[in-house]
Amino acid sequence: MRVVVTGGAGFIGSALCRYLVTECGWQVLNIDKLTYAADQRSLAAIEGAPGYRFMQADIADGDKIARILDEFKPDAIMHLAAESHVDRSIDGPGDFIETNIVGTYRLLDAALYYWRGLAPDRQQNFRFLHVSTDEVYGSLGAQGLFDENSRYQPNSPYSASKASSDHLVRAWHHTYGLPVLISNCSNNYGPFQFPEKFIPLMILNAMAGRKLPVYGDGHNIRDWLHVNDHVAALRLIVQHGQVGETYNVGGRNEARNIDIVHQVISHVRDLSPHRTLPKDDALIEFVQDRPGHDRRYAIDATKLENRLGWQAQYDLDRGLRDTVAWYLNHEQWWQPILDRKYQGQRLGVA
Ligand code: NAD
Ligand code: TYD
Repeated sequence: MRVVVTGGAGFIGSALCRYLVTECGWQVLNIDKLTYAADQRSLAAIEGAPGYRFMQADIADGDKIARILDEFKPDAIMHLAAESHVDRSIDGPGDFIETNIVGTYRLLDAALYYWRGLAPDRQQNFRFLHVSTDEVYGSLGAQGLFDENSRYQPNSPYSASKASSDHLVRAWHHTYGLPVLISNCSNNYGPFQFPEKFIPLMILNAMAGRKLPVYGDGHNIRDWLHVNDHVAALRLIVQHGQVGETYNVGGRNEARNIDIVHQVISHVRDLSPHRTLPKDDALIEFVQDRPGHDRRYAIDATKLENRLGWQAQYDLDRGLRDTVAWYLNHEQWWQPILDRKYQGQRLGVA
């Protein structure tokens, strides 16, 4: 199988490229603009592998994308390139509109042009998988789960831009016949995640004995999905998913932010006993809430489990422990990011 992965130098995209090349033996072409969130070092494991190639390109550069597709001739496009951080979307929505909406439109157009030129059998088998988020469904109360029929109610500039891109993808299927699939997943965590996101930020701050900033009362709930479980799901969806359909991906691992923070601190203490950390209460700092902060996300993954036989392999406790251990052992990966790109400052207070 020959696939184009967009955003393959990011957190989930790099895990997907590593998985497809090493575990699945697929031919992968990674197209990435290399924004602040990209890191080619996350792809070191497959650099130079015969099944892996990289092209630096902006998905919004339709002509360049069209040339790349024509030359590589993929069987599928797995579209992950995006601006992905809610807090940055509050500070500056422009890039989110440009990449997530306009970029997805240009990519769809290039994909459609390419698909129309394929021989009938290849046309039949071609797939465009759009990787999206559960945040398009808005915020849940204490009860209930998001499923594939949940109403779109995005609340942040980020989720609104992803919702728009989902609608474009759906329209390119219904109007032009492009064989698309959409996946909406919950919050991912695991190795190689940029430290602006909650879990790696908490791990690195705890390791350094810095304050752990918890937004609001810390009772917001996220449904955590290990990135390895996610990429296994994406492979199943692109290969076996029903064209035109949506699949929700979630690990059935709901947790309040404050409970994650305590777990992270406890794993850091446990795995790195030589560090003398202050008591939890002295480390944790409740800070001003995020504007428009969604209260709870939780995914019902029954469709993916029943129709495609996917099952999450990681429970949150094991996944968090592994992730803390990874950050403890990979200072050479995150220290240059802290030195050059992001120093852990608060984002998104508007
Ligand atoms: P990330 O921010 O770590 O990586 C995004 C990648 O996209 C980067 O390598 C960046 O350089 C690239 N990129 C950005 N703009 C581009 C452009 N115009 N052209 C080409 N490349 C561009 O993101 P991530 O966490 O790996 O998320 C990947 C996808 O999964 C995104 O579409 C995101 O919306 C979705 N998603 C992420 C999560 C999560 O918890 N991280 C949850 C649900 C959905
Ligand atoms: P984040 O990783 O930004 O993902 P998302 O906003 O897409 O869910 O944040 C996860 C949760 O953690 C969210 O409820 C906001 C909260 N949070 C904090 O409490 N402190 C922080 O420093 C960050 C970055 C997030």
